[in-house]
Amino acid sequence: MAFYIKQQSQDINEKYSELTENDKNLLNEYFKIEKFYRYALKEMQAKIENLDDYCENSFSHNPIHHIESRIKTPENIIEKLHRRSYPITMNSIKEYLYDIAGMRVVCNYINDIYQIIDLLSKHKDIQIRFVKDYIENPKSSGYRSVHVICDIDIYVVGAVRVIPIEIQFRTIAMDMWASLEHELRYKSKNTYSEEEKANLKKYSDELYAVDLNMQKLFLKKTEGDIEND
Ligand code: GTP
Ligand code: MG
Repeated sequence: MAFYIKQQSQDINEKYSELTENDKNLLNEYFKIEKFYRYALKEMQAKIENLDDYCENSFSHNPIHHIESRIKTPENIIEKLHRRSYPITMNSIKEYLYDIAGMRVVCNYINDIYQIIDLLSKHKDIQIRFVKDYIENPKSSGYRSVHVICDIDIYVVGAVRVIPIEIQFRTIAMDMWASLEHELRYKSKNTYSEEEKANLKKYSDELYAVDLNMQKLFLKKTEGDIEND
């Protein structure tokens, strides 16, 4: 055990050589609890997949197209703490970083997003902290999604841990726009003219119009199914 801890410290020193001693000490501490964020993502994924299955059985419709998840990289954890001027402590990680465990749930239709959020909110071991509805209020970039920041209880050897997760819910069309825009602009250093920015926003609005029309068509066709039963 002592050997393992010594080896792990050496690895952190080599891998994160550009970080300060204080940053490295924090990462050393963080790696002891990183597994809980992984467990939380696994449990959340199972719950959301079960809801998809429930909807298939109850309404003959799968709301979910696919799910992705990721754990924030150690470099990005340190970067965000510095960028937001939080103290470089475990307390800051636990109190302020609610997107270490991140999940993206790509739904088929807009209504599916709100249905899954509603069903999820009924789980006793999930507490929704807040919701950022960028479909109701899109970002000026044109970004649309609903972000749900919630806590999930996970049971580890008799103890309960409450772990935050950020879940981004979006349609396939919103995901297409966000994925391309993310590469093109959000995470890039390219500069954009006002015209280019306006065009990116216009493409998002056009995709949203398609989303609304596909939703309408789906409702019309499935109502037809009920009438024909
Ligand atoms: P972060 O520090 O980046 O986590 O920002 P925040 O805490 O203010 O949260 P926000 O509600 O802005 O959501 C952040 C996440 O949403 C990002 O990591 C992206 O995945 C996504 N996002 C937000 N705005 C945009 C955008 O304009 N374009 C794209 N492609 N994604 C966005
Ligand atoms: Mg984030």
